[in-house]
Amino acid sequence: MQQFLLLLRYFRRQPRFLALIAVFTLATSLLAALQPWPMKLLADHILGSAPLPGPLHRALEALSLDSGATVLLGIVVIGTLLLFALNSLMDVALTWCWTVAGRRMVYDLAEDLFARLQSRSMLFHKRNTVGDIMSRITVDSWCVYQAAESIVFSPAHALLATIIMVFLMAQLDAQLTLLALIAAPFMVAASFLLGKPLRAAAKIKREIESRVHAHIQQTLTGIPVVQAFAQEEREALRFQKFADAAIRSQQRSALLGSVNSLSSGLITTLGSGLVLWVGARHVLGPQHLGIGSILVFLVYLNSLQAQMKVVAGLYTTAQGLSANMHRVAEILETPPEVADKSDAALLPPVRGSVRFENVTAGYELGYPVLKNISFSAQAGQTIALVGATGAGKTTLVSLIPRFADPWQGRVLIDGHDARDIRLKSLRDQIGIVLQESFLFPLTVAENIAYGRPDASRGEIEAAARAANAHGFISALPEGYETVIGERGATLSGGERQRLAIARALLKDPPILILDEPTSALDAETEHSIIDALRRLMKHRTTFVIAHRLSTVRRADCILVLKDGEIIESGTHEELLARKEHYAHLNRIHSAEAPSLHAAAI
Ligand code: GTP
Ligand code: MG
Repeated sequence: MQQFLLLLRYFRRQPRFLALIAVFTLATSLLAALQPWPMKLLADHILGSAPLPGPLHRALEALSLDSGATVLLGIVVIGTLLLFALNSLMDVALTWCWTVAGRRMVYDLAEDLFARLQSRSMLFHKRNTVGDIMSRITVDSWCVYQAAESIVFSPAHALLATIIMVFLMAQLDAQLTLLALIAAPFMVAASFLLGKPLRAAAKIKREIESRVHAHIQQTLTGIPVVQAFAQEEREALRFQKFADAAIRSQQRSALLGSVNSLSSGLITTLGSGLVLWVGARHVLGPQHLGIGSILVFLVYLNSLQAQMKVVAGLYTTAQGLSANMHRVAEILETPPEVADKSDAALLPPVRGSVRFENVTAGYELGYPVLKNISFSAQAGQTIALVGATGAGKTTLVSLIPRFADPWQGRVLIDGHDARDIRLKSLRDQIGIVLQESFLFPLTVAENIAYGRPDASRGEIEAAARAANAHGFISALPEGYETVIGERGATLSGGERQRLAIARALLKDPPILILDEPTSALDAETEHSIIDALRRLMKHRTTFVIAHRLSTVRRADCILVLKDGEIIESGTHEELLARKEHYAHLNRIHSAEAPSLHAAAI
């Protein structure tokens, strides 16, 4: 219910269309009630001999028409046609209104979901698959339209039509109407009870279908691994298993659906049979119910059953939608883990000093990954982070652009607590180059200018030159206009990395984070981009994480991390002189890769 209220705001954004839909819904309810009346005129007053109803008689007199059979027959035909035409027109208008209003609501919601999901933390995105997130935006967002249509308007229409018809039926035969109305709650209850297994089956069906999607997505995302380990067959078998389960669940769902409609059909037929039996006795009995009236009654009864089914199905529909609504609400209601405070200030252009004060942080409560970290980096310095894998290096640098917030302590940028400044103004001043650089399927130029879409071609080229990338870009089939990933325009690891460096150079941030920017590359390629990296690091506060110690020797300060704590800090020479952890690491490293010393930054 609460989730439904959440969606109401999307209905409210379409007031004009919803008003139109309400008017048309009212009109169709009235038209549905008028439908059998020409037939009554035919049966009672043309074929039968009952006197014309007063209003019609007066209307004919006013138009100076006689009340002969031909004129009346004409009225019946024209009336039937007119009702049909009006009904069809209303249908077209309603469909059009729903198409526009429905799509607008859905895209409105999808837009909000997209924005929300974009602002969720890295941790959230690590934990949720892209497939799941995609289906929330593209599939689940339809629930707003379905909720408006099937929870609000259809039942409202059904209720309205029922009220009008019950009122008219009561004029014809009160006793019969009462009987029809007593049967109604039984029909509703039976339909609800019978629908229970159907709903359970539908839920299982949805779950299995989403597993099929997830399997496709995971396999295709990991296709290099699948192919490298020649596991295509196993993945195909798993797909087959999921597909079989999906088919079985669909079979079950379809079977239960037919059983459900059969049994609820039987119940409604039983109800209408009873009403018909009593109705026929009233025609024959002293009540002298007209033939035309019983025709009207029959049509209404039919329509009444249909309307009641809509009302009875309301719960089922709401149940079916509630899973989607829940998934949507989960995103809309959860505030982003990292967000601007209401009074967050703009971070003025910084010089680039970064200070950690007793920072404790982690991913799971109770398991801190960083413990009481304190250090400070002056503007323009290079700070290197070394330590075993899992020591917390990536976690530490991720606090600077606020990918996460510390549990305790503060991160200060030029003296400003990172939590008090606007995220965008903070991140605008930080450049990041990771181990694997993601490039969008856009042109090379657009990829380089991703952080500054307004950059001129001259600036883009200058950045590419500084990143030692101009050479290979010029050799691409369409140079800077080559779309990455298209027609075989794939790049090697070193080339991708140089584009990432160019991207960071163009952004020209005072603070730079390099998380193992060269560890995915071979020594030769590393050598070719070290130069570019050195240019990138000049005049910026740089945090560089490296497993290869050769890349960190020239750092102004080296922080040695172990199990989330800084166990040593100082320059290369100072740390060597201490002859402890760093010196030990250095010894191992020298033994392993002596050739890399030549490539030191
Ligand atoms: P390398 O990149 O392998 O050199 O390690 P690192 O020093 O960068 O370690 P990182 O900061 O990535 O991880 C530190 C600890 O946090 C490790 O024990 C990880 O298992 C843990 N960790 C990292 N990311 C996550 C996460 O998303 N969720 C959880 N629960 N733990 C995480
Ligand atoms: Mg790391």
